Formats: sequence, C-alpha cells, structure tokens
Amino acid sequence: MTVPGARLEHVGIAVESVDAARRFYEEGLGLAFGGEEVLAERGLKLAFFDAGGVKIELLEGLGDDPISKFVAKRGPGIHHLCFRVDDVAEAVASLRAEGYEFLTEAPYEGAHGAHVIFMKPASTFGVLVELLQEK
Ligand code: CO
Repeated sequence: MTVPGARLEHVGIAVESVDAARRFYEEGLGLAFGGEEVLAERGLKLAFFDAGGVKIELLEGLGDDPISKFVAKRGPGIHHLCFRVDDVAEAVASLRAEGYEFLTEAPYEGAHGAHVIFMKPASTFGVLVELLQEK
C-alpha cells in the first residue's frame, strides 16, 4: 500500500524569532513571503515562503510548546518535513496497517485550516514527518 498524492509540501524550520529569520529567506535568498499565522492554542507563530513548489515554514514557539523546547535543547534548525496527501485519514490508516506510528491518535487542524498529523520519528528513520491534507 502506498499513500496517494504524497509530495513534499514544506520544510519546517524551528527558529528563535520568525521576524529575525524572515530577513534571510525574504531579503537574503529573495523567496516570496507567503504570510504569517499565529496558532494561539498551540503557542506557535508561523511564517511561510515559496521555495519553488515547496514551502519553507518557519516556526517560533511563543512559550510552553514543543518548538520552544526543541530550540532550547538543540538550538534552531530543521524540525520536520511535511508531505501533502490526498486523504490524511486514509493515509494514517494505511500507514498504521504497515506498522508506522503517529504522535496523536487522529489528525487535527493546523495552519490554513489544513488537517495535519505527525509521525513518530522512531518509525520514520529519525525524521519528524508531518502529513497534511489541504482544506
Ligand atoms: Co509543518
């Protein structure tokens, strides 16, 4: 079994400050800024850039959240890879049947109202993988 429609959607990068890091991606590399979003209930500030078919997602933790813990422990850097899929519930069922594990039981609402879920890095060869179904 495979996951229909799977393709790289964005690379998630944990930063101390979205505003500071934005200078590099927008003014340094010249990538088009794709907007910011604050997910208050998850304590995250996000910013998106178009890197040519794939996005860069900057993630800044606003307090007691996994990104702040990640940055405190390991410093800023690459945090996750996100793959867009046609049907995230179907992808989860299919991958679970193959023995892959997820951080939560079910998908939930992420940025832009998309449905997302993260896989356990121990079951994906050390990479935190996010699956995303667009709204
Ligand atoms: Co992401």
